[in-house]
Amino acid sequence: MNAGDEKGGPTPTAFARKRRDDIWPLPDIAAVMPDRLQFRDAMARVGTSVHIVTTDGKAGVAGITASAVTSVSDDPPTMLICVNRSSHSAPRFFANGVFCINTLAADDQALADDFAGRTGLHLDARFQRGSWVREVSGAPVLTSAIAIFECRIIELRDIATHHVIVGDVLAVRYRKEVAGLGYHDRRYLNF
Ligand SMILES: Cc1cc2nc3c(=O)[nH]c(=O)nc-3n(C[C@H](O)[C@H](O)[C@H](O)COP(=O)(O)O)c2cc1C
Repeated sequence: MNAGDEKGGPTPTAFARKRRDDIWPLPDIAAVMPDRLQFRDAMARVGTSVHIVTTDGKAGVAGITASAVTSVSDDPPTMLICVNRSSHSAPRFFANGVFCINTLAADDQALADDFAGRTGLHLDARFQRGSWVREVSGAPVLTSAIAIFECRIIELRDIATHHVIVGDVLAVRYRKEVAGLGYHDRRYLNF
């Protein structure tokens, strides 16, 4: 049953007000609930694209490698990213109010490592490699990306360990016939 349908499911507002257990009680949940490591192992089987999500503005420039990126809607175009609450870059995203999702080409694996903190670079220093320009939002746009989505933050919610950040898409650009960088079973691959 969909939330808010005429068969009496809860509306999104009611859902937000009530605990999920009150709405859909699940028997024996403790017996089947995965622990954190089981969950991570299962998620490792789910292949994703690799992106560098950037921001810039009054709080300064920042960027992180992210796979928790998805589209929400095409009308209006809307995107969602999840940023760990321990991220040093996160406050800059909120204060600047804009972000750019740069979907990486296969050749940009080294950049993915830089922006994942694997080479010891932080904040501004991560931008020393790669070719970056500013276009609509002011967030850094990677010229070698296979797709870019410039966004303005419209909603921000903290869920468990992550900030869930939703943005209106202000501009998109993409390149065909260039292989993308993927991540599967904790390894990079090309597709
Ligand atoms: C393939 C890959 C995907 C990642 N996806 C995410 C993600 O979706 N969200 C996130 O918060 N961190 C993600 N990370 C980890 C961040 O890139 C890493 O913690 C980053 O260094 C945070 O930087 P900061 O603390 O300077 O903000 C990912 C790392 C890799 C290698």
